[in-house]
Amino acid sequence: ARPVSPGRYEVTQRVAAVEILPGLRTEVWGYSGTFPGPTFELRRGSPAVIGVRNELPVPTSTHLHGGVTPPGSDGYPTDLVVPAGYSSAHGHPGEVLHPVVKDYRYPVEQRAATLWYHDHRMDFTAPQVWRGLAGMVLVRDEEEDALPLPRGERELPLMICDRSFEEDGSFRYPHTAHSTGAGGHSAGTHGAGTHGMGGGAHGLDDGTHALDPDYLEGVEGDVILVNGAPWPVAEVTAARHRLRLVNASNARRYRLTLSPKARFTQIGSDSGLLAAPIDHDTITLAPGERHDVIVDFLNYPPGTHVTLLNTLSNGPQGKVMRFVVTRRERDDTAVPATLSRPPRAPRPVTTRTFDFRRTNDSWTINGHRYQPGVPLASPRLGTAEVWRLTSDFHHPVHVHLAHFQVLARNGRRPDATDAGWKDTVDVRPYEVVDVLARFDGYRGRYMLHCHNLEHEDMAMMADFEVV
Ligand code: C2O
Ligand code: CU
Ligand code: CU
Repeated sequence: ARPVSPGRYEVTQRVAAVEILPGLRTEVWGYSGTFPGPTFELRRGSPAVIGVRNELPVPTSTHLHGGVTPPGSDGYPTDLVVPAGYSSAHGHPGEVLHPVVKDYRYPVEQRAATLWYHDHRMDFTAPQVWRGLAGMVLVRDEEEDALPLPRGERELPLMICDRSFEEDGSFRYPHTAHSTGAGGHSAGTHGAGTHGMGGGAHGLDDGTHALDPDYLEGVEGDVILVNGAPWPVAEVTAARHRLRLVNASNARRYRLTLSPKARFTQIGSDSGLLAAPIDHDTITLAPGERHDVIVDFLNYPPGTHVTLLNTLSNGPQGKVMRFVVTRRERDDTAVPATLSRPPRAPRPVTTRTFDFRRTNDSWTINGHRYQPGVPLASPRLGTAEVWRLTSDFHHPVHVHLAHFQVLARNGRRPDATDAGWKDTVDVRPYEVVDVLARFDGYRGRYMLHCHNLEHEDMAMMADFEVV
């Protein structure tokens, strides 16, 4: 995306028809009418304003995932940009409606990192992201510029997600006929009849909070897309390439590996460069997580077809994309043994527990379904805390604003792919994950939640307030 004036971008969310499956048209709800939306390249120290205009039939809220963002621009679920003529007769308490346009202000004081943005509307994040409301943001800085990493054509942002399709090419997202009704809002109280595809159904796509027993695992699609394309091919030279991997799926996890085998050299995690590179044969990515890796295609003879596999699935979901190695090319790049000086982890001032669990047929945190405006914790600005994340199920836990390091899983060493500063961590069934979170940047209202977007919409979120 190009700025319209220095530091100012404008993007219109609109309905568009695109070709995803060969010969078929898919209606997407896209930033700029594309899926994924445009990639924004921002620089540390250069504040950006992104004016988001909503020409969709539904309200939206845009969240910069991994962004250190003031609360008014963080994409709070009830801070909505609403279409022209929209009126909400029965909105959520505290709901704020911006007619048609909102300027999101990003100071961009954070380190270089692979971020992404997506819709965060209360109760409807999962179906709205599924229809296309997601894209990438690359933050660059001088520390990273000074490194001899692959760039330009050899830097590939790869947004991975899964979708299902109807025979005519339209996205298929479940509308189920039942609803437990357990405290849920009734359909239409805040969709106000503008909810598009399949309006009037009950269940996952109607904004009730009820836990849907048919979709405990969330919604997975049977077609894996990379940057919106099924099973794409990238031509690469026999040289080092930087792959910025983002899992933008609603609920699917990936365990990525290359075939024929080659190593991923991880240089960055969710929140920026690692102190030093780490080699992996496989990379696991839960929804919301990112990994920044270097692959050296010089390991393969020209002509090799290299497959990026997802070993968590067999069958069609087991293959993500292909690389075709074209020719040798002069390669001046390197992966230095020292990449960066990430911020030090300060001493924690306290420990809090957040228990992600099914309670009375709802997805809850510490026994609570999400209530906007009711913070479960009030950490102090400039401090660090240990947050102990416990769970009865598989929940990718995401924290807004605060970046964290994984200290331990079940009291033992974290996984190799947990390294670095992160904003999302996969908490597996019955696991106890300790993270050390820093509350830097801004005071105000933020949130933590499960990034399985169906769990999120079923109220597995909580506010915290930085004081
Ligand atoms: Cu990527 Cu609160 O979300
Ligand atoms: Cu986020
Ligand atoms: Cu979850």
